[in-house]
Amino acid sequence: MEDVAGRVLIDHALEAARNAHAPYSKFAVGAALLLEDGTIIPGTNFENASYGLSLCAETVALAAANVAGRLKDVVAIGIVGGSITPQGIDGDEPIYPCGRCRQVLNEAADLGHRDITIYCASADGSVLRRHQLSELLPHAFGPGDLGIG
Ligand code: THU
Repeated sequence: MEDVAGRVLIDHALEAARNAHAPYSKFAVGAALLLEDGTIIPGTNFENASYGLSLCAETVALAAANVAGRLKDVVAIGIVGGSITPQGIDGDEPIYPCGRCRQVLNEAADLGHRDITIYCASADGSVLRRHQLSELLPHAFGPGDLGIG
């Protein structure tokens, strides 16, 4: 069955990926968060000449949600990306969130007391996989381990 939410999120993520600032890796990533009221918050990767300072698309989107005071309302995220070519963004494999982004997503999941759905898509959107954060980040370290929340 077609997952409408996933498809919409990947469309927004692809749009965001077009604005990737990724002149070093030449790898564009787009992310789109779905909030519980239907709001969509995009993010894209933002690289730096000091390579290690680069920000991932997912983290940028989550920071924007935080600015809006909506971190606890995140229910899902769509992620898409691939190599930047003259023809556009290219790649056959779905993009999965890096380890750091999974951990940052866990902060939103903990605040909202819910497991976040993660849609991972290939560059043209033809491969779309649905996961849960608990599956991609088992035994997560979170606020509870610090006695918070
Ligand atoms: N990247 C993301 O934006 N999200 C991920 O989950 C994995 C990697 C970015 C970081 C860097 O700008 C480029 O992809 C290549 O690593």
